[in-house]
Amino acid sequence: MLYNIAEVKDEDAWEAQSSYLSRATELVREAEVACGRKRTFHIETFGCQMNAHDSEKLSGILLLMGMEESEDDSADLVLYNTCTVRENANLKIYGRLGYLKAMKEKQPDKIIALCGCMMQEEEEIERIKKKYPFVDIVFGTHNFYEFPELFVQSVEEKRQVIRIYKDSSVVAENLPRARKYAFKSGVNIMYGCNNFCSYCIVPYVRGREKSRRSEDILKEIKDLAEDGVVEIMLLGQNVNSYGKTLPTPVSFASLLKQVEEIEGIERIRFMTSHPKDLSDDLIDVMAHSQKICRHLHLPLQSGSTEILKKMNRHYTKESYLALVDKLRDAMPDLAITTDIIVGFPGETEEDFAQTMEVVEKVRYDSAFTFIYSKRSGTPAAKDPAQVPEEVVKERFDRLLARVQTIGAEKSMAYEGQVLPVLCESVNHQDPSLMTGRLDNNSVVHFKGSKDLIGKIVSVHLKECRGFYYIGDTVS
Ligand code: 5AD
Ligand code: SF4
Repeated sequence: MLYNIAEVKDEDAWEAQSSYLSRATELVREAEVACGRKRTFHIETFGCQMNAHDSEKLSGILLLMGMEESEDDSADLVLYNTCTVRENANLKIYGRLGYLKAMKEKQPDKIIALCGCMMQEEEEIERIKKKYPFVDIVFGTHNFYEFPELFVQSVEEKRQVIRIYKDSSVVAENLPRARKYAFKSGVNIMYGCNNFCSYCIVPYVRGREKSRRSEDILKEIKDLAEDGVVEIMLLGQNVNSYGKTLPTPVSFASLLKQVEEIEGIERIRFMTSHPKDLSDDLIDVMAHSQKICRHLHLPLQSGSTEILKKMNRHYTKESYLALVDKLRDAMPDLAITTDIIVGFPGETEEDFAQTMEVVEKVRYDSAFTFIYSKRSGTPAAKDPAQVPEEVVKERFDRLLARVQTIGAEKSMAYEGQVLPVLCESVNHQDPSLMTGRLDNNSVVHFKGSKDLIGKIVSVHLKECRGFYYIGDTVS
C-alpha cells in the first residue's frame, strides 16, 4: 500500500486526471439531481502553511468537480488535511473522527476523506483500516492531485480507497486553486526536507527535497500579480537550500532577485530558513531589496550546542548568535522570530539556561515554543534520556513568560511611528475597523473601509496593546 510513484512528468500529473475529473463531475451532478440541491464540501486544515496551501489546491479541484464550499462539518464531503509534527495533532484527528462517525450515521451518503502528513505514517493507516472503516478516501502528501481518481473509485466501488506513496519525484504543476485571499498568496518553491533533525518526522512524511523549476515559480507569481496579488510568501521546509537539486542549480538568493523584478508584487516573504544554510548572498539580497519584508523566521530549536548536536542541526550557539549579529548589522530593523523546543531528550537545566541566554541576547520579536513530542521512527524517540514531564512543563512556562515579555517590549518600540500596513480584512469584532499587517508581520487595527483591502496604507501606530496595535490612517 505504501509504494513509490512511477515516473510522471510534472506537467502531465494533473493532465492525466482529466478523464477522472469529468467522471467525478458527472457523479457530483447525479448526486445533486437526486437530492435536489448543490453538493457541498468542507476542508479543515491542520498544521503549517504548506498544508494550508495544499488545501487551497484541493478546494480548487472540488470546485471544478461542481461542489460548493461550506463552512462546517455538516457538508456532504468532509476532508481533513492532517498534521503529525507533534503527537497532539494526531490525537485531535481521532477525536474529530469519532464525531464525524456519529454524523455519518444520520447522513449515510456523507463522504469522509483524510489526507496530509499523518496519512504518510504506516501505523496510522493500519489504525484507520481497522478502526475507522467509515472513512471513505485516504491519500497522502505526494498525490493530492489524484483526488478525482480516488473520489470516482470510492463512489463507484462503494469501498474505502487508500492510496499513499512513500515518496515521489513529481512536482505536479498547473493545478487549479481556490485562493483564500485575493491580494496575498503562498507559493511553493520546494517540497520535502533532507535535514533529518533527530526529533522531526517531516522528512519521513514529506519525502526528500524537491525544488520547483524557477521558471514555473516565476510564471506563477507573474500570473498572481496580474490577478491582483501584492504579497507573496515563498514556501518550503528549508528555503535556503532551494534549487540545489535542480538540473541547473539556482540559489535562493538569485530566485529572490528575480521575484523582486516582478511588477505588481509589493511584499515578499519566505518561510522557513534553516540557520545552517543562510548565505551571505541572501543577506545581501534582503538588505538591498525594496520588497522583501524585514522579517526572518530563524528557528533556534535549542540554545545549547550540545543539544543542537544531538538534534542534528549543524550549527552551534555561537554560530547562531554570530549569524544574528551579521543579519542585524546588515538590517538593523529586521524582525526575527523563531521556533524553540523544550525538553529534548537529555536536556539539562544547564542546556535550558543556554536557550534562555540566546533568548535574552537575540530578543526575538516573537517565538513559537513547543514541548518536545516523541515521534516514532525518529532517532530522538529511541533516546532513553527522556526528560520528566513536570520538569519540561516548568521550563516551558519560564521560557514562554520570557519570550512574551520580550515580544511585548519589542512591539512597544514601534508605538508612535507611521508605517506601511497591508490592509487585509474587516475586523472580526468591530466592523468600523480594518485589520492589516506591518512589514514585520505584526497586526494593526485601524479605522477604515472595505475598499482599502489589498492596499498598502500608511498608518500611525497610536497604541501598542501587547502583540497588536491600534492606529489611524495618515493621508
Ligand atoms: N516536538 C516538538 N516540536 C517539534 N517541531 C518539530 N518536531 C517537533 C517535535 N517532535 C517543531 C520545530 C519546528 C516546528 C515547525 O515544529 O520547532 O521548527
Ligand atoms: Fe524538520 Fe529539521 Fe526539516 Fe525543519 S529542517 S522540517 S525541523 S527535519
